[in-house]
Amino acid sequence: MSLHVTRTLPEDATGAALRADVVDGLTRTPKSLPPKWFYDTRGSELFELITDLPEYYPTRAEREILRDRSGEIAAASSARTLVELGSGSSEKTRHLIDALTSLEAYVPVDVSESALLGAGQALAAERPDLAVHALIADFTAPLELPDTPGPRLVAFLGGTIGNLLPEERAEFLSAVRGLLAPGDALLLGTDLVKDERVLRLAYDDVAGITAAFNKNVLSVLDRELGADFDLDAFDHVAVWDARHEWIEMRLRSRTAQTVKLPGVNMVVDFAAGEDLRTEVSAKFRPEGVTAELAAAGLELTHWWTDAKERFALSLSVAR
Ligand code: AVJ
Repeated sequence: MSLHVTRTLPEDATGAALRADVVDGLTRTPKSLPPKWFYDTRGSELFELITDLPEYYPTRAEREILRDRSGEIAAASSARTLVELGSGSSEKTRHLIDALTSLEAYVPVDVSESALLGAGQALAAERPDLAVHALIADFTAPLELPDTPGPRLVAFLGGTIGNLLPEERAEFLSAVRGLLAPGDALLLGTDLVKDERVLRLAYDDVAGITAAFNKNVLSVLDRELGADFDLDAFDHVAVWDARHEWIEMRLRSRTAQTVKLPGVNMVVDFAAGEDLRTEVSAKFRPEGVTAELAAAGLELTHWWTDAKERFALSLSVAR
């Protein structure tokens, strides 16, 4: 078996980036934090629980597409290298890996070393023919890929592109295009615009798992920055922004309160009812996806949805 691990993320990068994001986000009006700080060990566990919730359809919808369409995706890309950005546990990708008959190299990219190693070791053991190059890296930063054979297929699944703001998406797609040679492809997962109640419930489940996931970001700041956020002093809120066509997760301060964050030498005031935005999760239409890809030099060639048309996978080719 062959498993190679490369770390392009300095050991202290996380702390410095967290501090910069917290200083920036908590001095803005309205206050915000980037969603990537949800995913410590507890947050990743809570996210896994979310994917099993009856209300949270995206994971099941995307898995259905991959199960039913991997043969078509493989035939359209004929990739010899599969790069997966934000691979996590690589669970859904197995259908695709198995369908890609010319595949020689698999390059999972994730900030979570534990997720990468677990998935990488299992796969390398099962598929001795496959070179697995695990990359511990932040996919929103410039990436350097290992020298593996083309054509390349880059997969970015889960609808995570929706967690980027429109300008960040444009920058991200251009960077992905920069990783591709003409004829290489991008497989992109996007959640679709649908009934507002379905969307709001997906981000505000009855069991309160999404609320716990949202509040967990405050535990991350308490632990990493010595902050004194009281999780019970905030309410979880999910709002549909019809103009931007995105869901916003927010934490709403129940009272006027002051929070200390020694790790960044800050004291932050919250007014009663004031919101801290913790996530944007954009929902897409086919025209929008096509246009955003085209602006980055990627031509959409295939569009697959689940039977209920809740979620889409698109394949686009670098021009
Ligand atoms: C799967 C990471 C894209 O926006 O749906 C789940 C994460 N946030 N519930 C999403 C999430 C709240 C998420 N991503």
